[in-house]
Amino acid sequence: MILVTGGAGYIGSHTVVELLNENYDVVILDNFVNSSPSVIDKIELITNKKIKFYEGNVLDRKVLNEIFNDNEVSDVIHFAGLKSVSESLIKPYDYYNNNVTGTLTLVNEMVLNNVNNLIFSSSATVYGKPQEIPLTESCHIGETTNPYGTSKFVAEKMLTDISSANLKFNVTLLRYFNPVGAHPSGMIGESPKGIPNNLVPYLTKVARGQLECLSVFGSDYPTKDGTGIRDFIHVMDLAMGHVAALRNRKPERNLNIYNLGTGKGYTVLELINAFERITGVKVNYRLSDRRDGDIAECWSDPSLARNELGWEASRSLDDMLRDVWNWENTKSNY
Ligand code: NAD
Ligand code: UFG
Repeated sequence: MILVTGGAGYIGSHTVVELLNENYDVVILDNFVNSSPSVIDKIELITNKKIKFYEGNVLDRKVLNEIFNDNEVSDVIHFAGLKSVSESLIKPYDYYNNNVTGTLTLVNEMVLNNVNNLIFSSSATVYGKPQEIPLTESCHIGETTNPYGTSKFVAEKMLTDISSANLKFNVTLLRYFNPVGAHPSGMIGESPKGIPNNLVPYLTKVARGQLECLSVFGSDYPTKDGTGIRDFIHVMDLAMGHVAALRNRKPERNLNIYNLGTGKGYTVLELINAFERITGVKVNYRLSDRRDGDIAECWSDPSLARNELGWEASRSLDDMLRDVWNWENTKSNY
């Protein structure tokens, strides 16, 4: 049985679908702070399987013990956490509490219950301002620019230290690049609350006429068209990366770190153009100032995951944008 914390969220829900498709038994823990219980129904509809879930907080030792007592959990995939860079600047306590103390609480209860395999959702944000591109797992980490990024960096450090002190405890750190896209059924996808911070959710709201104009943050970066470059990865590829990490854990090391990216970078303008071409919808955008804390380029060298996990992303930017638009246009039907 795999415990998926945050399994009702964006990446978690797609991963649960893939786990169920691969015949893993799954139990979800989520407090729905950034998702809704209806996501569980949709996962059940997509997979035609029933899921066991607990509504609760990873900070709550009681619910964790209940889960470990009631289920034969072998592995935990830990998605639960807060993820908004801008909100983290306003509520740093909440970010450190959920993302750092939450992870520590979970690990403590895992060890007490003899559950020794953890896959942790980390982020390319831990690389801070990259000193070289593409980013490999051995690149320098730290010098993060906001409490969200620092919370992921601290959690990584903490898990690294725990894994070196407890050789029975296996940790896999997965550093995601920029997740985009939705399940091709259009039943699950990303639903940010309020005004989105991230590029694609903002863009789709503009395309639907729910927001007026997309600001392109910075057009004077040293890139081919002056706009920022990112490694956008389809959420279904990311989900499959978790299954690969679960299946191919390296017995010779109890700490493994992988980038989950495509290895290709696209500029913001390239992404907007691709969206317009695929959907036939014009996007109202304007070039504006750089956003504080942004970097010019961030893209991965994904070869370690390919070589060790036998995983690589197979979906294109066009696939991501097509699936996102499908989700935007069908989500109200479910
Ligand atoms: P999400 O907000 O959609 O999903 C997180 C889920 O965890 C939500 O369902 C939320 O209700 C739940 N949750 C939050 N705090 C909880 C708590 N204390 N107890 C129980 N449940 C809790 O986010 P996501 O995009 O699916 O991200 C999943 C993980 O991946 C996060 O840890 C995030 O930091 C990390 N990550 C995300 C991105 C991205 O761009 N989406 C990039 C890199 C890393
Ligand atoms: N951008 C715009 N306009 C917007 C939003 C974004 O031009 O309205 C630009 C940004 O300047 C950047 C690119 O689009 O060049 C991507 O920005 P996002 O906000 O979508 O994503 P980031 O790369 O800033 O960060 C994301 C997640 C972080 C995560 C990081 C690496 O938000 O949590 O990817 O995984 F850490």
